[in-house]
Amino acid sequence: MKEAPKKLLSVRVPATSANLGSGFDCMGIALNLWNEFELWTAPGQEDSILVESFGEAAERMPRDRSNAIARILFEELEESLGREAPGPLRIVSRCSLPCGSGLGSSSTAVIAGLIFAHALGRPDLNADNIATLRKAVLNRAVEIEGHGDNVAPALLGGLVCVIRTQTGRTLAQPLPCAVRKVVVCTPEFHFLTVKARAVLPPTLPRADAVFNIGHAVLTVEALRSGDLRLLGKSLDDRLHEPYRLPAIPGALDAREAALDAGAAAVCLSGAGPSLLAFADEGHERIAAAMVAGFASIGMKAHSRILEVVANGTEISLG
Ligand code: HSE
Repeated sequence: MKEAPKKLLSVRVPATSANLGSGFDCMGIALNLWNEFELWTAPGQEDSILVESFGEAAERMPRDRSNAIARILFEELEESLGREAPGPLRIVSRCSLPCGSGLGSSSTAVIAGLIFAHALGRPDLNADNIATLRKAVLNRAVEIEGHGDNVAPALLGGLVCVIRTQTGRTLAQPLPCAVRKVVVCTPEFHFLTVKARAVLPPTLPRADAVFNIGHAVLTVEALRSGDLRLLGKSLDDRLHEPYRLPAIPGALDAREAALDAGAAAVCLSGAGPSLLAFADEGHERIAAAMVAGFASIGMKAHSRILEVVANGTEISLG
């Protein structure tokens, strides 16, 4: 009798909003919009891997080894862990995160590929210890993705500060966060992270560094206590937003519209083009105002009201 395909693992990775104003490259928060990935055996399949994609940008996703998840899976399994795949594999991906929107979609692929590789190399895994994979892949994920401020909150959940220590290690520290709900507004504008980094000056005046240090500390305190009045004063930045916001058509209008509609504070989500707004109330009104702000210069946009995810990446066997 023909062997039936078997689901080996399911991984759900949340969206993330990196930077949070002055926490450029160091801070991020996990939000409840998910990319979901399954790893299946594929007995009888000719190719070693087949990737089936559904949802956001599914039509553009490669089905073979050139797919980012498959490539990372095999590179990690064969080159880093020195193991072989148990046989032909199939990945099913269902994505809700818009690509290139500043919500950490590329981190979700890196995390899924790494978790699949490490799970295939660990026959001892069971329902009780499967969650240890999240910490096991953290360093590699930061190395591969390059943005710890997306990867760490996606893996660990909540608000996370991530640094590279003097000895070159990644240190990811979850921080308390009383804020539960945010508005994310995503314009239909492609602003790739490489491009968004290219607009940044290579050096900055000491006064701007001092400005950011103080603002970052107070942003952490405002998020810990849920004091959105304080966040309104602290969520400002001089390292990246002054260069990126004007490069995103309608972003300054949408930010203004959100503040006029009652948002306490607004920042870029990651490298953009999405914007992230905080408020105690009136989230629907703010969401609509941001869309209208982008629309005022003819830019289409889509708003979502999202909750902060406390636990990060979910992994289950079978
Ligand atoms: N911290 C990174 C940046 C995040 O702002 O370029 C990329 O999503």
